[in-house]
Amino acid sequence: MTKAPQALAENYPDVIGSMTGAARLIRACLRQPVDRTPVWFLRQAGRYMPEYQAVRKHHSLLEICKNPALAAEVTITAAEKLSVDAAIIFADLLLPFECMGLDFEFQAGEGPIVHSPVRTADDVARLRIDRASELSYIAEAIERVSAHFRDRLGLIGFCGAPFTLASYMIEGGGSRNYVHTKTLMYRQPDTWRALLEKLAAVLREFAEQQVNAGADVIQIFDSWVGALSIDDYRDFVLPITTTLVRDVQALGVPVIYFGVDTASLLPSMRQTGADVLGLDWRTPLDKAWRELEYSCAVQGNLDPITLFAPQELIQQRVRHILDQAAARPGHIFNLGHGIVPGTPVENVQAVVRFVREYSAASKQEPGA
Ligand code: CP3
Repeated sequence: MTKAPQALAENYPDVIGSMTGAARLIRACLRQPVDRTPVWFLRQAGRYMPEYQAVRKHHSLLEICKNPALAAEVTITAAEKLSVDAAIIFADLLLPFECMGLDFEFQAGEGPIVHSPVRTADDVARLRIDRASELSYIAEAIERVSAHFRDRLGLIGFCGAPFTLASYMIEGGGSRNYVHTKTLMYRQPDTWRALLEKLAAVLREFAEQQVNAGADVIQIFDSWVGALSIDDYRDFVLPITTTLVRDVQALGVPVIYFGVDTASLLPSMRQTGADVLGLDWRTPLDKAWRELEYSCAVQGNLDPITLFAPQELIQQRVRHILDQAAARPGHIFNLGHGIVPGTPVENVQAVVRFVREYSAASKQEPGA
């Protein structure tokens, strides 16, 4: 039967690390030794958390995102409740659409809907790239979170990757086969390139606002890039994504590049030059890292649904991931995709404690 979370907590009491959360996160991104493995979670502020639900009762998702005080509060509450090493700013991938002139909404249980999908050269020509400053509410929220945590926690800003955002624009929402996206990509390559370049221009400026406001790291979400073959990724997506990654790095922060179902794409994704690749949960961490020749840091990759398992099994899976990373510099513990609604919060907290304790015990003292 499931062991009480308290039992796990007693086995693994808090350890006081010798580094700040920010140092731990940034050093791991750069593959420098750390006192223990940094840990945070994709979608750590979300519907599984009662405090978030309480805020959501009175405000829509977009209202929270656009109100810096609320967005900061949701970000801070989740990070403190979980005792993670990093906070990710509460926002959404699709927010830049608005300043580009594309309306969208979140429909309950259905994800985002774009009412007039982008399908033609004219549609792309109409997209604006001169209004990224309208996204400054996110930078404002970052300033608040940064002032709250200072260096105690790392602060992660984020944006979507050109491919994943283009797919939402073209499909008008989520998709199974990406037929419209790939049709445009194959049949109107100039329009495709123009669209990705416009997106990258806005995303570059958006990332800059976030870094100036205090983000320590930028994560680029290419959540649906796993829909592409290696050839299509290289021909249609890699060049512009590489440009974006390099531009963000030039702002002086490490870049985490994340996608799902990416096992076969990882070596190509590595070519973007991202400091860290986010691994999805289907990819064995040791095999993936070895195939990348340890040339970048890795983040991941517990199956988020494991958090519904009994404590012993969760602990076994977490230990297996840490053992696969083998205390090599450059591992950030995370899930292989976002926390889902219904996840028991105490299981997430127990993972944090276990990662801390187990990794502290298996790392050498820094400087030793
Ligand atoms: O704590 C955090 O991780 C920060 C918050 C965050 C949200 N969206 C808030 C949100 C982050 C990092 C995102 C990124 C995002 N948004 C992604 C990439 C992450 C991934 O899963 O790969 C994607 C694909 C989106 C677009 C998006 N937003 C979808 C597909 C959905 C619906 C999914 C669902 O679970 O209903 C959203 C809505 C959304 N964005 C929610 C949250 C907390 C849940 C809806 C709500 O509160 O009403």
